[in-house]
Amino acid sequence: MYNVLNLAKRRISIRNFLSEPIDLRDVLYALDAARNAPSGANKQPWRFIIITDNELKKKIRSYCEDAEKEFHSRAPEWMKSWLLEKGITWRKEFLTQAPVLIMVFGKTKEPYWVQSVWLAIGYLLLALEERGLASLTYTPPKVSWANKLLAVPTDYMLQVIIPVGRAKESKRSKERLGLEHIAYCNKWGHTYDLCLNGIDSYKR
Ligand SMILES: Cc1cc2nc3c(=O)[nH]c(=O)nc-3n(C[C@H](O)[C@H](O)[C@H](O)COP(=O)(O)O)c2cc1C
Repeated sequence: MYNVLNLAKRRISIRNFLSEPIDLRDVLYALDAARNAPSGANKQPWRFIIITDNELKKKIRSYCEDAEKEFHSRAPEWMKSWLLEKGITWRKEFLTQAPVLIMVFGKTKEPYWVQSVWLAIGYLLLALEERGLASLTYTPPKVSWANKLLAVPTDYMLQVIIPVGRAKESKRSKERLGLEHIAYCNKWGHTYDLCLNGIDSYKR
């Protein structure tokens, strides 16, 4: 049985994909979920390009890796150590491994376009998880190349590339702060339990 909490707990970022094809109807299902997200003034400032062409994927990877080399050399020390610990390098093999890439663009002239597009991305990730598909939220350091490559109007900006496919790696445990560290009642630092008036408790 799926519910939002189960899906949210189960989803993790995958950086190694099998190249086996996936059913595109599952991707469309996830985009259908994404388009139902709320947006500032209901402007729906999101657009999605589904990439299945292998030659295009190679070009996308090449643009991203060029930018990543520069990003990795200039990253602050704390980030370099974090990236090293996670095994994240400038190499973005997943961009050619995954059978599908979803390129998500936002319309920069609309109100709250960033917030709205990222809400839709959240819906999209959970819907992919529901369909048993692995994904990654990959944010390339540079994005303007994407407009030219994919003939995207200049008032749209690439926000994320989401490789989608079957995971080659096994599931890791989830590193998250507990509810008690992030949810307060009426005032910063006051335990959320206080809002339950002592009547009930919340089972995690
Ligand atoms: C806004 C945003 C940007 C991210 N950018 C990248 C990225 O460029 N490369 C990458 O490998 N992971 C990226 N991630 C994935 C995060 O590293 C990952 O979500 C986080 O470490 C938590 O791990 P989990 O997704 O497995 O739960 C990004 C995630 C978010 C939400």
